[in-house]
Amino acid sequence: MGVSRGGFSSRFGFIMAAAGSAVGLGNIWGFPTQTASNGGAAFVLVYLVLAFCLAYPAFMAELLIGRYGQANAVSSMQKIARNTGQKRFGFVVGFGGIICAALILSFYSIIAGWMMSYSIEPLARLAGFTGEADWLISHSLTRNIIFTALFMGLTIFIIRRGVEEGIEKWSKRLMPMLIGLLILLIIYVFTLDGSREGFNAYLNPDISRVFEPDLLISALGQAFFSLSLGTSVMIIYGSYIAKKENLVTLGAQVTLIDVSIAFLAGLLIIPAMYVAQAQGVAIFAEDGSLISGSNLVFTVLPALFSGMGNVGLFVAFGFFVLMSIAALTSSISMLEGPVSFVVERHDTPREKATTLIGLAILVLSILIVINLDWMLDFVATLSTQYGQPIIAMLCCVFAGWIWHRSDVLSEIKQGNIDVEHSLFWKVWPWYTKFICPTAIGLVFWHSL
Ligand code: PHE
Repeated sequence: MGVSRGGFSSRFGFIMAAAGSAVGLGNIWGFPTQTASNGGAAFVLVYLVLAFCLAYPAFMAELLIGRYGQANAVSSMQKIARNTGQKRFGFVVGFGGIICAALILSFYSIIAGWMMSYSIEPLARLAGFTGEADWLISHSLTRNIIFTALFMGLTIFIIRRGVEEGIEKWSKRLMPMLIGLLILLIIYVFTLDGSREGFNAYLNPDISRVFEPDLLISALGQAFFSLSLGTSVMIIYGSYIAKKENLVTLGAQVTLIDVSIAFLAGLLIIPAMYVAQAQGVAIFAEDGSLISGSNLVFTVLPALFSGMGNVGLFVAFGFFVLMSIAALTSSISMLEGPVSFVVERHDTPREKATTLIGLAILVLSILIVINLDWMLDFVATLSTQYGQPIIAMLCCVFAGWIWHRSDVLSEIKQGNIDVEHSLFWKVWPWYTKFICPTAIGLVFWHSL
């Protein structure tokens, strides 16, 4: 690995960074609500199977392309390509992923900004600043702009420092904090009335729903968003891993952490909703489904916290700090995609590239904030429902059809000398070539 472009200094550093990217609002907010509205444990079961059988192989394709290329997404794809047509295709896929990451960051930073302002609110209230506390949860335009900018500022601050001093160092600090906070909150919620009912709702499978197309689509979409696929992020993180590391195991470990944290988040959110219900908060929408989306995080849960009196202020603080940390370790990975591209392809110093790209994305975020009623949904749909599956599918096509089988094997063999005789090598090439692109394509087509 070239000294000038940096890289992860340890296996643990890579795992924390990649799991940090994967674990985000998608796990702590998206997964529990999807589970609740899709038949509880039936969804968890399907999610587990799809995460390991479809998302993991696609994830491996991106990591391998990156480690082989030892460069940003576009250069890595182009290194595999053998003629002009393939190089153009590589450019489209790599650059498409980078744009997708930037678009996701533009709306993700707004939501993360809300999480930050909601985490400061209990502190302001505790200190007696009632007016300021009300403003912090007011959803006003100024509050939105200030906190989006603050969150983006934090993201820029970390990425300016580079891979080892920025991404790795902060992921190693923030991820253990996140896991600790999550476990503490789960234990606390379990001591409250109503949590047992939530626990049952979360873990009682409605097996009849396992093969429902809607459930399958939601589970696969969730798995792809959660592993940050189709955004160039895992290509660039893959490019920072040393050649001596065993990618097959590392990828599986990251997938396992991602899935486990989503599962743990469900253990927190669903019982918390039933606790809120025991305290008189409405948790079901008119159609009988559990309330999800922003109403859950910004109405149901705050109502639960305020019903707890002063303890609730600390619980609210812990919960929203948890959300903010999860968002930050994901947002840094989104910014790294475009930054690494500009640094390596246009010979720009990292600090300058980070600030400029961060500010450009912030301008887009502010535009979204001003037109929140239609633009947030539009950009989110465009990037996560169209961009991510298409790019992820094309990455599989690239790895399965364009990359020579012998070259793929020699790349995987680095750090994993016996891989040729493993189950992984018997299944994965075939999977990436046929199953992954077809399954992603089918799900995408169906979701239209
Ligand atoms: N995986 C992150 C989450 O679950 C979101 C993300 C998407 C991060 C794309 C990076 C790239 O919230």
